[in-house]
Amino acid sequence: MSKRILLGITGSIAAYKALDIARLLRQDGHDVQIVATRNALRFFPRLNAEIFTGHPVYVDLFDSSGSVRHVELASHSDLILIAPASADFLSKMALGLADDLLSAICLSTNSPILVAPAMEENMYFHPAVRENMKTLLSRGIREIPPETGPLASGKDGTGRLASPDAVKSAILSVIEHTQTWKGVRVLVSAGPTHEPIDPVRFIGNRSSGKMGYALAAACASRGAAVTLVSGPANLLPPPGVTFRSITSARELEMEMGKAFPSHDICFMTAAVADYRVKDPLAGKKKKDGKVWTLALVENPDILSSLSRMKTSQQYLVGFAAETVLDPKKLLEKLRKKGADMLLANDVSQPGIGFSSDTNELTMCLPDGQVISLGRHPKTVLAEKILDAVEKWGTLPNLVSDHEPSAHARRPPRG
Ligand code: C5P
Repeated sequence: MSKRILLGITGSIAAYKALDIARLLRQDGHDVQIVATRNALRFFPRLNAEIFTGHPVYVDLFDSSGSVRHVELASHSDLILIAPASADFLSKMALGLADDLLSAICLSTNSPILVAPAMEENMYFHPAVRENMKTLLSRGIREIPPETGPLASGKDGTGRLASPDAVKSAILSVIEHTQTWKGVRVLVSAGPTHEPIDPVRFIGNRSSGKMGYALAAACASRGAAVTLVSGPANLLPPPGVTFRSITSARELEMEMGKAFPSHDICFMTAAVADYRVKDPLAGKKKKDGKVWTLALVENPDILSSLSRMKTSQQYLVGFAAETVLDPKKLLEKLRKKGADMLLANDVSQPGIGFSSDTNELTMCLPDGQVISLGRHPKTVLAEKILDAVEKWGTLPNLVSDHEPSAHARRPPRG
């Protein structure tokens, strides 16, 4: 499967090794376009690189051709590899700076980005670099870790650019993932619901929507057609996703009910309010010095109603926010809700779950398996969830009006 790979070279001494990586990628039939930073040009022969790849090496953000170069390069690349990635460039990426062509491309692209850091050991382990790397990983950028061995300074340590073979296999695993869900239609609900009390007040919860948005982005990057139905969340919908906004549980129920029959997989990630105000007021309630009692009624359980609509061609994933994770109770919830997979997290633990970037999930399956997916950034967990659906999802042929998906045809792994 030949791909258009944009190889970003930054100002590290290891820049000359990028040409070996380019050679290996070309041998595999990929089209390689090099974009370098100004400092990188000091470390590798530009002309050789141009002859070698058959393309000019681009450096400048602006040219006289009238084209918007960073947008074009960003949208024409299937994958972006920054190798070597200097400490300075990682920090620019983490901050979202766009003062040169390569950093502007990184901000404009929807394609997967891999970074292969190369620097002195003290720099690599400096808290600032660690923090930047953490930020990048939490945004779904993948790291090809440096190797240990002799460094430019003459010392031994961690910081050598990953070998061309390691880079090649990291790229291969991303490429294998990229289109495996092509033809699969995925419905994701995300975020909290807000239940109106009067026109200005509502009952809500602390859900940020990050887990659902990360799932929608991960499905889209594997080639799925994704519909994201979201409650009020302060997040931008991932690129390429069909977006529907709802506010209350009953609006969510309506949207999900309409959309569910035309989707193959549904992730019910939304933190639906269990109760709504029985009689919301039409006008704003004024203070009157008295106790105000609200009558609440239970909201419909959307996951359960979707499971009743579910055909054998569909796969339904539910989530559970618990304060105690009891495997027996989780399996019971999975059965009661009629889902094909339940992903539970312990919301009593500080630093994970609602509104945090990190989560820790336990997966329950109808055959009684209870498996920990570990504690990771939500973007990483989203990939693990999709891998688990690929492994355990027994999706038969998908609906007849589209090609059976690669996902459905793929034999179970493991
Ligand atoms: O019962 P509990 O709230 O723990 O169930 C959580 C799961 O059920 C989540 O997948 C959530 O989206 C879904 N849910 C729902 N409708 C509700 C409450 C929860 O679909 N009213």
